[in-house]
Amino acid sequence: MATIAHLSDLHFGAHEPKVVDSTGAWLREHRPDLVIISGDFTQRAREEQFREASAWLNRLRSDGFNLLAVPGNHDVPLYDLARRFTRPLSRYKRYISNDLCPWFENDRLAVLGINTARSLTIKDGRINREQMEIIRERFRDVPEHKTRILVTHHPLFAMPIGEGNELSEAVGRHEDAIKAVCEAGVHIALAGHFHRTYAEAAGRMVQNAGGALVIQAGTATSVRLRNSELQSFNWIETHKNNEIDLQVVAWDGARFKARDRARYTFDGQNWNARPAVEATELEAGAAA
Ligand SMILES: [Fe+2]
Ligand SMILES: [Fe+2]
Repeated sequence: MATIAHLSDLHFGAHEPKVVDSTGAWLREHRPDLVIISGDFTQRAREEQFREASAWLNRLRSDGFNLLAVPGNHDVPLYDLARRFTRPLSRYKRYISNDLCPWFENDRLAVLGINTARSLTIKDGRINREQMEIIRERFRDVPEHKTRILVTHHPLFAMPIGEGNELSEAVGRHEDAIKAVCEAGVHIALAGHFHRTYAEAAGRMVQNAGGALVIQAGTATSVRLRNSELQSFNWIETHKNNEIDLQVVAWDGARFKARDRARYTFDGQNWNARPAVEATELEAGAAA
């Protein structure tokens, strides 16, 4: 089994310090094999916000965590136009990671991060042809038994975002991106951006989408809450490529608590969820 903590949308500068501390404490208690952070580290890409985010990340690094990060639209300066168009991700590279195409591989997992944040759009994301080629290439020689995971800030798929059935915009050039994801045999597509937890088989969202399980994270630590969802992150356990447990870990106003655990199994075409009935160690030890 491999364990992953999937965090997103930290928004340092518009963060809740108590929730930030509890997130770090929770990670230290549960020690995932990999911590994935899918963008929006800061609120406005300001130097002091990146400094705070970087200090928090560096504490995790010095505690020996494996980290994989991608930038979000909030990590590109909005009002500083000179910087926005000439050096949009210079602070991200300096404070968070120099690598905009991060890769993590161990004996169970192969994980690729792709940057979808752009200067030309305020909040929408894009994938370019070169990145689609990287998706195909990086996963090409990964052994069959490893779980292939793609991480972006903007979801590749349109998904429900409002209280009703309103659908989000998908990432720019999403049809080609989905084709690349399908050809690469991606098992899990992780993203954030909407500050809303969500999971569904790609095959039920779009035609010809392949066999990915699409998982969205809420905001882990920010005060920018949507649809009355409090802060949360995802805990993912990959048992095999066709069996994944997803646990939402949500803030309850005082601490993080394990919530909504489901087991997803792949039937050859789609992922099917059923609530996990067994009591887990995670639930027992979720206080932080
Ligand atoms: Fe965000
Ligand atoms: Fe975002």
